[in-house]
Amino acid sequence: MRPSHHANHPTGPINWQVAKKIWPYLFEFKARISLAVLCLILAKLASISMPFLLKDAVNALDDPINIALAAPISLVLAYGLFRFLNTILGEIRDTLFGRVTERAMRRMGLSVFQHLHNLELAFHLDRRTGGLSRDIERGTSGVSFLMRFMVFNIIPTLLEILLVIGIFFNQYGIEFAMITFMAIASYIAFSVIATEKRTAFVREAANADSNSNTTAIDSLLNFETVKYFNNEQYEAKRYDQALADWEQAKRKNRLSLFVLNGGQAFIIAASMTAMMALAAIQTHDGTMTLGDFVLINAFMMQLFLPLNFLGFVYREIRGSLANIERMFELLARTPAINDKEHARELTVSNAEINFEQVQFNYSADRAILNNVSFSIKAGQKVAIVGDSGAGKSTLIKLLFRFYDLDQGGITIDGQNIADVSQQSLRRAIAIVPQDTVLFNATLYENIRYGRPDASDTEIQNAIKSAYLEEFVQSLSKGLNTQVGERGLKLSGGEKQRVAIARAILKQAPILVFDEATSSLDSRAEQSILQALKAVAADHTSLVIAHRLSTVIDADNIIVLSKGKIVEQGTHAELLQQNGLFKKMWQLQQEDQHA
Ligand SMILES: Nc1ncnc2c1ncn2[C@@H]1O[C@H](COP(=O)(O)OP(=O)(O)OP(=O)(O)O)[C@@H](O)[C@H]1O
Ligand SMILES: [Mg+2]
Repeated sequence: MRPSHHANHPTGPINWQVAKKIWPYLFEFKARISLAVLCLILAKLASISMPFLLKDAVNALDDPINIALAAPISLVLAYGLFRFLNTILGEIRDTLFGRVTERAMRRMGLSVFQHLHNLELAFHLDRRTGGLSRDIERGTSGVSFLMRFMVFNIIPTLLEILLVIGIFFNQYGIEFAMITFMAIASYIAFSVIATEKRTAFVREAANADSNSNTTAIDSLLNFETVKYFNNEQYEAKRYDQALADWEQAKRKNRLSLFVLNGGQAFIIAASMTAMMALAAIQTHDGTMTLGDFVLINAFMMQLFLPLNFLGFVYREIRGSLANIERMFELLARTPAINDKEHARELTVSNAEINFEQVQFNYSADRAILNNVSFSIKAGQKVAIVGDSGAGKSTLIKLLFRFYDLDQGGITIDGQNIADVSQQSLRRAIAIVPQDTVLFNATLYENIRYGRPDASDTEIQNAIKSAYLEEFVQSLSKGLNTQVGERGLKLSGGEKQRVAIARAILKQAPILVFDEATSSLDSRAEQSILQALKAVAADHTSLVIAHRLSTVIDADNIIVLSKGKIVEQGTHAELLQQNGLFKKMWQLQQEDQHA
């Protein structure tokens, strides 16, 4: 898989295809956009008129015949008005257009989010959450940036430049038009080339930046581990190393920025000087008025101001396009686990489960499950035991269809789970997973997650069945207690009981417990086992257990070793077989009596 962490500024050619993809988003608010464009045109007209007003004002002041103040003052007043209009129209335009970009960001953000939830577990195990969320963030803000600058910066600026060159040519002749054209052309060329050359440094700095970030975040996430091993010094050193790289990268970045800005300033100053010198000569000769001299200066200033942003805008647009591209790539990624076309809903009547010659591996180099066949009859309780890493939890992931099988099939009431919709399949199974991770919310919200539309009485009952009542009462905030990130403020056993309450609440016909009581003390375990037995009474259940004494009552116990079923039968039958199960049982009995 390609890493989802990367720098902001790639070197390849700009991919304008991406710009086309965001085009449709512009058409959601047609009226708004037309108004915004109208504001833009009016603002540009105002800004083009300003130098002319200035020129007339200067000429009126300079006129030896006209000594009245009224004419120049009214021109200056008009100048002030146009200046204000120019700015305020720009603000109105941004305000109007803001809605468009925000809606586009919202729609894109949501579709990426939904898409991520549709991707398979394997994708999520491979990714780095930090990198992924940066992708989405950069992608959506890239869209907004691109929309604003394409529509309101680049195109209008180019139009304005053409217009001014036309005015110069028309009013003052080819020399002025040529100098302006040359100035702009060399400015743009220099900016593009220098920006391209800089890209490597910028990328280096962005990389160093995200590296130091990752280092810091990873270290803080492992706060406890750092303390357990007294490794604060070591962590500080690592972080400082990352920061030093960043500092170094920033230095090169800054020097290259100096060259870019310096070059741009030189081009501006040189062409301004050439223009003004030419205008000064003509004014001196009398072919030009003082007003014309001022007008030319004003236009040049007006043109170069937006151009100053060009290097920045160019770089940002590059980055934005690359970021959006990455987001669209993410969107284009097809989920590995898909519903079949017209997939039926799973209908559960007896909840009989069948594993038929299941073969599975996570990666081609290592087989995990080998020809596993067993069945769970309606209402039965089947236990799976075996060494760590034997593939027990994997069986459950396959039952949930987080992965597709390499060979064989899994059926529920005769329906292959690959043929029914994933929604209906997962609705039919409630699980207490091996590692419970909670949302960073209240206890109440975490329990209710089992079935968001459950009534408060049902939630209370689930809490009672999971033996959480006493714990909840001992909390000053009760169910409103925050459980902390990933539920870390709860003890292992408490978390497990929240998971049990959730599973009970889900009221699914099939129950799966993956070491559901492994974190509980013997007394709590006994009580919960009783409760679970009551819940499981009329359900089909699959129980994975390390402590064999917890599954004595199972209808069938399957002993899994290295991905193969090596023995199966009831507790009594297995003890008679004198095989692996008997050994495991004896070891655990000795432990208990030791
Ligand atoms: N996503 C994965 N990618 C690659 N290998 C995996 C993945 N998940 C599990 N494995 C490997 O598959 C094997 C079986 O894992 P599984 O979680 O099913 O074991 P288990 O029987 O539940 O063990 P335990 O009793 O320790 O929970 C292990 O060797 C594990 O390293
Ligand atoms: Mg496991």
